[in-house]
Amino acid sequence: MKLTYAMATVALTAACTTKPADRDVALATSIAKGLLAACPDSDNPADETARNQCAAKLTDFALLRTVMREPFIWGGQSAVGGYQLDTKTNKFNARVWRRMYLSTFMFGSDYSIEQTADSTVLHVPIMFRGAMSTGAYPYPFWHNPKKWDAYNYATTIHFIIQNGVMIGALRSIDQDKTRSKVDHSWDGLWRWRQAGVQMPYVSLYDYLLSKDNPHAVQLNEAYRALEARMRQHACQACHAPDNQGESPQLEFFVYPNQALTGRHDIVAQLDANTMPPEDNTLRLPAGIADSSERDLLLKLARDFEVAGDEALAWEGDKKAQF
Ligand code: HEC
Repeated sequence: MKLTYAMATVALTAACTTKPADRDVALATSIAKGLLAACPDSDNPADETARNQCAAKLTDFALLRTVMREPFIWGGQSAVGGYQLDTKTNKFNARVWRRMYLSTFMFGSDYSIEQTADSTVLHVPIMFRGAMSTGAYPYPFWHNPKKWDAYNYATTIHFIIQNGVMIGALRSIDQDKTRSKVDHSWDGLWRWRQAGVQMPYVSLYDYLLSKDNPHAVQLNEAYRALEARMRQHACQACHAPDNQGESPQLEFFVYPNQALTGRHDIVAQLDANTMPPEDNTLRLPAGIADSSERDLLLKLARDFEVAGDEALAWEGDKKAQF
């Protein structure tokens, strides 16, 4: 069949509109609008009610939920710029990140979209909710003054999208140091209690899961049992926010919610007996020498993995994609 000019143009246009990069730009646009609708900048960085409403909307933001990769990568943009996610970043369960990390920000409307060699990058202006109570943050970001500055002063979040999947996000290296900042000093504790409640309250399953999630109690018990046993092997010495083990893409286990992302990897590492690692920064012996002890840890890790899978599946959240 001979192709007429008109037919060729139609065919060409159709091919163009389905180009992956165009789809990613459309996706980025919808996400920017959804973020703004969920968490507008109210100019009140102390308002925890607004934060909780924002958290609820981000948790249920259907498009974002569908396109976020599991696990999701989050960290600070490196000093040289660019959008690398492979070092100095953390791995998170996507629901955990949307609900307790992303919700610490309010969003501006003046977004932009950039096309790099391999990604579509959505730049969204942010204002940090820097004046909430200390238990409203995923962990005491002020344990390191530079980290606290980075959250308070970063002007933008860069969301990185490839082929319809949002693989991670970075706080901009670009900072506005004229913004106000509340000073905190860290007492060396990752967790503490306040009026009988464990803090940070946002790191608990109560905060993450729906009130009627039937798996919440079992998940909490499984986490507590595993966490207590892991402590005897100093796992948390390295798998905590200060990253003493210098892991390139850290998973941390000191909090119930953040530990969820590691639920499959912990089983794999214990099974292969590769933790603590060889030649580690704390000079601990590699692996767990006592096989009955390792079996016990493995059982607790498997219980946590199953309970985590069930609790998240009940919420409709997807499983790890790789
Ligand atoms: C001395 C520090 C240290 C200790 C103690 C330690 N780890 Fe790790 N762990 C690391 C480092 C570093 C990596 C990254 C290894 C790599 O990238 O090759 C890692 C990786 C992991 C991973 C893969 C995901 C990730 O964070 O990259 C899991 C799961 C893990 N460790 C579990 C454990 C468990 C369970 C224990 C206790 C039995 C433990 N670790 C003890 C330093 C440590």
